[in-house]
Amino acid sequence: MAKCPLSRRNLTEMGFSPASLGLCSLALFFVTTMAAQPLKPIDVPFQKNYVPTWAGDHIKYYNGGNEVQLYLDKYTGTGFQSRGSYLFGHFSMQMKLVPGDSAGTVTAFYLSSQNAEHDEIDFEFLGNRSGQPYILQTNVFTGGKGDREQRIYLWFDPTRDYHYYSVLWNLFIIVFFVDDIPIRVFKNCKDLGVRFPFNQPMKIYSSLWNADDWATRGGVDKTDWSKAPFVAAYRSFHIDGCEASAEASFCATQGRRWWDRREYQDLDGIQYRRLRWVRLKYTIYNYCSDRSRYPAVPPECRRDRDI
Ligand SMILES: *[C@@H]1O[C@H](CO)[C@@H](O)[C@H](O)[C@H]1NC(C)=O
Repeated sequence: MAKCPLSRRNLTEMGFSPASLGLCSLALFFVTTMAAQPLKPIDVPFQKNYVPTWAGDHIKYYNGGNEVQLYLDKYTGTGFQSRGSYLFGHFSMQMKLVPGDSAGTVTAFYLSSQNAEHDEIDFEFLGNRSGQPYILQTNVFTGGKGDREQRIYLWFDPTRDYHYYSVLWNLFIIVFFVDDIPIRVFKNCKDLGVRFPFNQPMKIYSSLWNADDWATRGGVDKTDWSKAPFVAAYRSFHIDGCEASAEASFCATQGRRWWDRREYQDLDGIQYRRLRWVRLKYTIYNYCSDRSRYPAVPPECRRDRDI
């Protein structure tokens, strides 16, 4: 490992006392002994893993496709999708969101099986007026049923620099990461009667579009088209998944890849601390605690609460 992956500030913010830390090597000790951090993404050009889905003329390529920009203007947004379909794996993207006045725009990065009873794992970035914070909304659909929104603010300005947004998906857990920080988990609660995505291959999608009927302050702030075009930038395009045909409910290496291993079936102690930190400091909304919408706690939330 070339550099210490954890900064002291992060660790202290997450509840470690400076005295118990001292050295980066100690942090590294934790990381290597309890590690369930996904393998580092491998940056590849767009074309290796992705193709445009619609309005291909609103996608611009730089540096041999290592960097890509999506454009939204008043005529259209645009989107792209993975070439392959996958059952489980680690999927990530570096994104730099629409800067300045992005109110009304939504940038999404998601996995979906796109069929009638679809499974879906969503990151949606809701834009805002200049200087106002983005909202990151996540959702999980299983067997066509969603309505599991969680919303957070980010602890950085997502329009200034690239950040990694990733999904780790195996038979036991789905983890949403922002950089190295897990911001959400969805555990397999089959035993509680909740469907878990396991047999419908998904593709990875991204898009930028206008959603000013709901996105910003619930639809109050409209897109200011005089600021168009709105531009979101992408890098990395990492996919490390078990590739299946779109119909297959199985793929050859299933159960035998790194993300299937025991240490990836749940978060470790450091990751739970980080998740709690996000919960405590940045959560705006969690369907699990919305009693007016769900008088009875949704079953999977029982495993969400003790985080
Ligand atoms: C936009 O900014 C307002 C005011 O700070 C805030 O209430 C809202 O949550 C922000 N985000 C979105 C997407 O509306």
